Amino acid sequence: MEPKRYTITAALPYTNGPLHIGHLAGAYLPADVYARFMRLRGEDVVFICGSDEHGVPITIKAKNENRTPQEVVDEYHAIIKKSFDGIGVSFDKYFRTSDPLHHETATTFFENLYNDGKLISKESQQLFDPEAKQFLADRYVEGGCPKCDNEAAYGDQCEKCGASLNPTDLINPKSKLSGATPVMKDTKHWYLPLDEMQAQIQPWIESHQKDWKSNVMGQCKSWLNQGLQPRAVTRDLDWGVKVPVEGADGKVMYVWFDAPIGYISATKKWAEETGNNWEDYWKKEDSKLVHFIGKDNIVFHCLIFPAMLMAHGNYVLPDNVPANEFLNLEGDKISTSRNWAVWLHEYLEDFPGKEDVLRYTLLANAPESKDNDFKWKDFQSRNKGELVDVLGNFVNRIVVLSSKYYDGKLPAFDPSCNVDGIKEVQAAIKNIPTKVESSIEAYRFKEALSEFMRLAREGNKFLADTEPWRMVKEDPKNVESIMHLGLQLTANLAILSAPFIPFTTKKLLEMLNMDASILEWKNAGRLDLLPEGHVIGKAQHLFNKIEDEEIENQLDKLKANQAKEEEKKPEVPAKSTIQFDDFTKLDLKVGTIKEAEKVPKADKLLKLLIDVGTEQRTILSGIAEQFSPEEVLNKQVVVLTNLAPRKMRGVESQGMVLMAEDEEGKLQFVKPESAMVSGAVVR
Ligand code: 2FM
Ligand code: ZN
Repeated sequence: MEPKRYTITAALPYTNGPLHIGHLAGAYLPADVYARFMRLRGEDVVFICGSDEHGVPITIKAKNENRTPQEVVDEYHAIIKKSFDGIGVSFDKYFRTSDPLHHETATTFFENLYNDGKLISKESQQLFDPEAKQFLADRYVEGGCPKCDNEAAYGDQCEKCGASLNPTDLINPKSKLSGATPVMKDTKHWYLPLDEMQAQIQPWIESHQKDWKSNVMGQCKSWLNQGLQPRAVTRDLDWGVKVPVEGADGKVMYVWFDAPIGYISATKKWAEETGNNWEDYWKKEDSKLVHFIGKDNIVFHCLIFPAMLMAHGNYVLPDNVPANEFLNLEGDKISTSRNWAVWLHEYLEDFPGKEDVLRYTLLANAPESKDNDFKWKDFQSRNKGELVDVLGNFVNRIVVLSSKYYDGKLPAFDPSCNVDGIKEVQAAIKNIPTKVESSIEAYRFKEALSEFMRLAREGNKFLADTEPWRMVKEDPKNVESIMHLGLQLTANLAILSAPFIPFTTKKLLEMLNMDASILEWKNAGRLDLLPEGHVIGKAQHLFNKIEDEEIENQLDKLKANQAKEEEKKPEVPAKSTIQFDDFTKLDLKVGTIKEAEKVPKADKLLKLLIDVGTEQRTILSGIAEQFSPEEVLNKQVVVLTNLAPRKMRGVESQGMVLMAEDEEGKLQFVKPESAMVSGAVVR
C-alpha cells in the first residue's frame, strides 16, 4: 500500500516561560505518540512545532525584566527545545517564529490575502493608554469579564470562562502598562471577514461531526451558533511580523495570525534541510493535516486558521484537531504565575533516566475527554504498580531465566505444547496490535496505552501461572516453549512500546539483542520475531521504585514555590517614567490631625481637620472602615495640599492624606519617623 502523507503539528508554545506537564499531557505527548506510530507504520510523516515568539505577554515580560523581547524568547526557546529533546518528543523540525523565513512566509501569506481582496480594513476606536501613549492590544489590558464574574480577564480572553474577548468588551479596563484607565482612540486595522465566511466554514465543520471529538465539536458549534464576527488580524504593536501594506506603520500581525503560519514555515525549513517539497505536505489533497492542541486553542485551529487557509486557497484543511482538556496538579489549576506547576526541565533534572515514567503516567492519565488531575502519589504508585511490577518484572524475569537456562539462546517452540494459557498468550500477541492501532487512529491514546500494557500483563500472568522455574527440571520441553513464547512476546512489546515509551523501547532492543530495523508496525503480532537460537543480550532494570522521600521532596517543592509567590508583593503595574519637574508639582506637607468625625451615610469617609502649618484644611479621607475618629486624633500625616478641591457628600475636601496599602487592602499612615512641626515640607 502507498504510504499516506501526514502533516502533524503540535501547538507552538509561547516563549515566555518553560514547559510544564500540562503542556505535555495536553498536546505534545499525544502528538508524539501519533507521529511515532505513523512512522512505524511506514507513513510519510512530517511532525512539526516551534516557538511562538510574538504576542503581548512576551513584551510585557521583557519590559518587567528590563530586557528586549528577543532576549526573552532566545532564553526560553533554548530551554523549551532542550526539554522537548530530553523527554523524547520526536519533532522533525522545531522552528521559531522570530526566524526570517517565518517572517517571509507570514508576510507572503498576508500579502496574498490582501491582494486577493480577502481582508477588509476598518477604522475603529481602540483602548489607548494616555500615560504610556500606546494602544492596548490583548493582554496589555485587564478588566471585568462581560460573561462571568472574573474581575481580571485579559483583553483577548477570559481565562475563567474561556470567552474570547476584545479589549473594548472589558468592564472597568485598566492598562497593564501604567495602571491608567484607557481612553478610546481611532486606529485602522485589517480583518478577516469571518461573518462572510460562515457559509463556507459551517458545512465543512459539520462534515466532521462523526470524526471530531465531542469537546471540540461542542466549542465549534457554540461559536457558529453565536454567528462568526470579523476578526482583526493586525495590532498596534512593535513586536511581531510587520504588516506589509501601505498605511500600516507601527502595526504587526496579530500573534494568532502569524503563529499557525509557523507550521507552514517550519515545514518549509524542514523541507529545505532534507530535500523535501513542503508543498506536498500542505497542498496535496491526500495529505492529512492533524493539529494537536489544548482546549484553549480550539477556536484558532478549528475556525480561524482554517478560514485563513480557505481564504488563501490551495491549502488542505485540517483533517482532525484532537484537542485535549486540561491537566490539573494536586487538585488545583496549573498556573505559571502562581508557580503551581511541575516544570519539565526540572523534572528531567530531578528524575534522570525516568523520562518514560513521566511519559507513561501522563499518557495513562491524559485529559482526553475531561480535565484530569496529576498527583505525585499517583505518579509513584503507577510507576510501581504498572511499570515496575508488570512490565519491568515480566521482562526482567524472562531475560534472566533465559540467560540462566539456555545461556541466552532462544529455545525451540513445540507446536504441540499445551501448557495452560498458551493459546491465550498467542492470541493476545496477535490481536492486541490491531487494538492499539485502531485506538491510536481514533486518537484514543489512553486506551491504546492500556492495550499495550495488557500485553505485558498477559506475559506477566503467564509466567506467574506456569511458574517455569518450578518445572524446569521435570518438564524441560514445556519450559522451552514457555520461554520461547515469552521472548517473542517481549519482542512484540518492544515494537508496541515504541510510540509511547521510546527510551524503554531502546533498552528492550538491547536486552533482546535486536536491531532497530525490527521496529515496523507490520511486524507487530508476529510469533517469530526472534529466530530460534538467537542470542539475547543482558538483563537491565527497566524501571525502579520511586522512594517516598523523592515524592515528598516534590510536594515540598510545590509548597515552597507557592509560598515564595505569595510572599511576593502584589503586582502593581509599573507607571510610566515621569520627569523631576512632574514630581515637583506635588505640594506635600506634614500635617497634624486636629479633629476627626464620621461622615453621615458614607461608611468609608472620615472628615478630618488637619493643621498644615499655615492653615487648617478640611479633608475627606476614605479610611473610616479601618480607623475610628478617636484613633486618628493628633496623628501626624503627609498631605498633598495642592490637589484641586473636590466636593463629596456636600463637603469640600481640600487635599489628600497619603496612605500606604498592602495586598489585602490594609492601610497605614505615611508619616515622619518622629514628630515634626506641622507644615514641614516633604520632597
Ligand atoms: O496557546 C499557546 O501556547 C499558543 N502559543 C499556541 C499557538 S499554536 C499555533 F497556532 F501556532
Ligand atoms: Zn469570563
